[in-house]
Amino acid sequence: MGQIGNLDDLLTGVDRVNLVPGVTPLERGPLLDSGAQLWVKRDDLTGLGVGGNKVRKLEFLCGAAVAAGARSLVTVGAAQSNHCRMTAAAGALLGLEVHLVLSGERPQALEGNQLLDALFGAQMHFTGEPDHHWGALEIVRESVTDALAANGLQPYSIPIGGSTAVGALGYIVGYLELSQQLDELGVTASAVVHTSSSGGTHAGLVAGQAICRVLRMPAPPVIAVGVAKGVVIGSPDVTVLANEALSLLPNCPSGTEVAVEDVVVDGDWLGDDYAVPTPEADEAIRWAARRGGWVLDRVYSGKGLSGLLGRAANGEWVSGDEVVFIHTGGVPSVFAPEGVPSL
Ligand SMILES: Cc1ncc(COP(=O)(O)O)c(C=O)c1O
Repeated sequence: MGQIGNLDDLLTGVDRVNLVPGVTPLERGPLLDSGAQLWVKRDDLTGLGVGGNKVRKLEFLCGAAVAAGARSLVTVGAAQSNHCRMTAAAGALLGLEVHLVLSGERPQALEGNQLLDALFGAQMHFTGEPDHHWGALEIVRESVTDALAANGLQPYSIPIGGSTAVGALGYIVGYLELSQQLDELGVTASAVVHTSSSGGTHAGLVAGQAICRVLRMPAPPVIAVGVAKGVVIGSPDVTVLANEALSLLPNCPSGTEVAVEDVVVDGDWLGDDYAVPTPEADEAIRWAARRGGWVLDRVYSGKGLSGLLGRAANGEWVSGDEVVFIHTGGVPSVFAPEGVPSL
């Protein structure tokens, strides 16, 4: 393969709607204290509905929904879910009714992602569940889906984070896009680091890495910084999800396979739990804002970058190394209560 043009061949026969307006920027960042060169892949700039990693997944999830003749989308997430917000925007664009199952109670005033959910016209179902009660939230998603089906609204129902094999296809595209950008810049990356929660982004990235490896292209390893307990203890199984995603590509190069060793999750930057701030993430947020003008959030990308900076400080990447951080977004939650650290 080697060139992005051949991506079309890889995706032949796969349902997709176009939501990402082109290639997201790859920016050269500052040198880290360790001497390693930072690069930032701006997937906070995926365009739709203030952007973020889920737009890539939604290209394929919504492609499948439209192909199935869906009239509505249902999904689920934490109170300030970025995934829900981007699903709301995708539904608005595609003329599909959107139902969001959210943790917590309806607040007096909507803020951050929830304000945008409402602006995009989505219907919000507040469950009263705590953020990390993912199982209970999924059960409500199923009952909302059943009710919509019974009312003839033909729902396409999307699990938490859009982390199905179909959704993971978005980050096969993301990895191959990044690979081409690095190739054009003549950069050999030592690692690609990103924030992981439901595991679909990670699955797509390691699947993309496996494709590059089989095609004898540079295939830098992927490191996921886990920000939810589930992914930190190995569930969902990212290896299985990645191989399922590869199996959806009719033109996948033969021999492409993700091995268990490809899947690396660093759980040391989670702190007490999902969405509980850490001093390291708060420091990373201030660092990114003041060194690159990047806006990171306390739930996801701040913790992700804290993992990259921490691993570099521990001597993993030094002068001569080039490390890519995929900025997966999360910007609207900065405008939610306690969205920014002390300044
Ligand atoms: C900003 C941000 N970064 C990273 C992630 C993690 O992506 P995934 O759920 O695919 O692991 C999310 C998921 O909601 C997110 O909103």
